[in-house]
Amino acid sequence: MKAIICTKYGSPEVLVLREIDTPVPKDDEVLIKIRATSVTASDCLIRGLNAPFLFKFVVQLMMGFGKPRNPILGMTSSGIVERIGKNVTRYGVGDPVFAYGAISPTKLRFGSYAEYISLPEDWNIARKPDCLSFEQAAALPYGGLLAWHFIKKANIQSGQQVLIYGASGSIGTMALQMAKNAGATVTAVCSGNNFKMVESLGADKVIDYTRDCAATKLEAYDLVLDAVG
Ligand SMILES: NC(=O)c1ccc[n+]([C@@H]2O[C@H](COP(=O)([O-])OP(=O)(O)OC[C@H]3O[C@@H](n4cnc5c(N)ncnc54)[C@H](OP(=O)(O)O)[C@@H]3O)[C@@H](O)[C@H]2O)c1
Repeated sequence: MKAIICTKYGSPEVLVLREIDTPVPKDDEVLIKIRATSVTASDCLIRGLNAPFLFKFVVQLMMGFGKPRNPILGMTSSGIVERIGKNVTRYGVGDPVFAYGAISPTKLRFGSYAEYISLPEDWNIARKPDCLSFEQAAALPYGGLLAWHFIKKANIQSGQQVLIYGASGSIGTMALQMAKNAGATVTAVCSGNNFKMVESLGADKVIDYTRDCAATKLEAYDLVLDAVG
């Protein structure tokens, strides 16, 4: 199969197209023929490794020293199930699915910058709803799962005031919609260029963090969700 290989840590030029072996699904795994993936903030952070010493050390401890141990980046995918292991019961060949290659900080599998990925059937895989394109489905899990975790934990009540810091990002856009859905009044913090987009997702108020007066616009909030990192 064709895959984008990360040859070492560095600028985007370290990514090269190569022909490699197609993964073979284990007994509990599904092999997905990938139709879409997304380039996430984490992919860029890992590939670039442009960070303070301690962070660099921890990332390399997890991912490999000098270059990623698994040279194919990418954690989100959508596509069609091409093959299944002999113990797989939840999915069949031909099912449209979308997936996130991690279920915990230690149980994760990069590899979606490729034509195929094999994942255990009980990880974060779900059937793709017909109303979503493959591109939309591949963009959902990265920010969506994180946003869902925190929004659920916050147990937002109708009428509460919520501030989302980083509202135009992958986590922020999802959290914003979930908070609106729960009945909150949402203030979105992002750059002015993204005001229209966050307003189209339901933001009631917007604050541009690039303006000197940004802090003076803050009010009291029941929940502040920091999605900048
Ligand atoms: N651990 C995990 O599983 C996990 C999962 C997802 C994300 N993350 C981490 O969470 C963070 C956010 O992820 P993301 O995917 O949502 O990122 P993203 O899509 O790049 O969005 C970043 C957001 O931060 C805003 N922003 C950028 N610079 C800022 C600054 N100096 N001050 C205030 N706001 C600023 C951006 O606003 P504008 O674009 O409008 O300027 C945007 O709303 C990243 O650090 C990422 O690595 C972790």
